[in-house]
Amino acid sequence: MPPSSLPGADGVWHSLRLAPGALADHTAEVPTALAVQQGRITWMGDDQALPAAFAALPRYDARGALTTPGLVDCHTHLVYGGQRANEFAMRLAGASYEEVAKAGGGIVSSVLATRAASEDALYAQAAPRLEQLLNDGVCAIEIKSGYGLSLAHEAKQLRVARRLGLDYGVTVRTTFLGAHALPPEYAGRSQDYIDLVCKEMLPALAAEGLVDAVDVFCERIAFSLAETEQVFRAAQALGLPLKLHAEQLSDMDGSALAARYGALSCDHIEHLSAEGITAMRAAGTVAVLLPGAYYSLRDTQAPPIAALRAAGVPMAVSTDHNPGTSPALSLLLMANMACTLFRLTVPEALAGITCHAARALGLQETHGALAVGRPANFVLWDLREPAELVYWLGQQPARTIVRQGRVAVDTLGLTRL
Ligand code: NIG
Ligand code: FE
Repeated sequence: MPPSSLPGADGVWHSLRLAPGALADHTAEVPTALAVQQGRITWMGDDQALPAAFAALPRYDARGALTTPGLVDCHTHLVYGGQRANEFAMRLAGASYEEVAKAGGGIVSSVLATRAASEDALYAQAAPRLEQLLNDGVCAIEIKSGYGLSLAHEAKQLRVARRLGLDYGVTVRTTFLGAHALPPEYAGRSQDYIDLVCKEMLPALAAEGLVDAVDVFCERIAFSLAETEQVFRAAQALGLPLKLHAEQLSDMDGSALAARYGALSCDHIEHLSAEGITAMRAAGTVAVLLPGAYYSLRDTQAPPIAALRAAGVPMAVSTDHNPGTSPALSLLLMANMACTLFRLTVPEALAGITCHAARALGLQETHGALAVGRPANFVLWDLREPAELVYWLGQQPARTIVRQGRVAVDTLGLTRL
């Protein structure tokens, strides 16, 4: 439903049971009520201590529901044409991701399907996927380009991402991933394509206001370290934040490069080295863990979680939703898999889909934790304890979702006091 037709969440929300880690600033007393005015949180405190200034607002009874900040999915490739179930079957029959890509499948096959689709067709395919993610309590999401690989088709993808954000009333951060794969028409001319990305595509898309960040797939089947650095320089010249698909299939030293450029995040990082961890720590770069891709590719090398934890590198968890390696549509399931496959603790997984994910998008001042002054994004869950958020497989336990100050979902049947 378009956000303008959703009921506003303005009022005082009583009897909340905040999950640990929900607050941006830790206070001695955990609030049990909050006020929303004009879509923002304007007060948090004790149920019994509502200041007189808020007394005239409508009041809602959350009846002790477990409450978290809105979730943040910080790495998706949500907008694309077609699907690639055939590759899933090929991999089951023994082919590797790299072999499928070399055989003309992989990213390039999604590029052909995306180019063939109109903007409206791409929107119609992406919208139900977005709805699935939102039903899990997602209030901010990153959407990358990277299946267009020409100015017109990358612009088409990014425009669809922007439209989805407006229509669904969800914070969308767009990331330009022009350097995702070499388009077929540039076969054998990688440097020419990188020049096009840096000199034509990126400046034009940024001028259209379609780019919130820039990403590169730095890998032996994609772009080299030197090519990655060229894209980083071009992005930096335009003042755009950086992200990197790094060390997924091999250690390319991409993470250390990204950290040197002050990147927001390095994502995948199964093959991350000790030097990469040190560089990320020094730069405050977030490690984005993508267990859906690890699982789908039946990878066996997990990211170096213990070393990241020991170094104090913030770890986010995301769906990496894409048609090739992670057709995942539940962020809660990814949090579960980050625990079972990567050995994150429950609090780490919850921070991974809230505050650390917000940081991976540069949204740490507005999203991923609750505080006065922030846009009202929070979720009431039909769960007794926080661990249940990552325990259930495939449940959708969000009962009331307040997104950008509007009640996007309410199956709790909120009672107005
Ligand atoms: O994040 N690693 C590169 N990009 C995507 C996969 C894209 C695809 O296979 O279509 C990822 O896993
Ligand atoms: Fe990805």
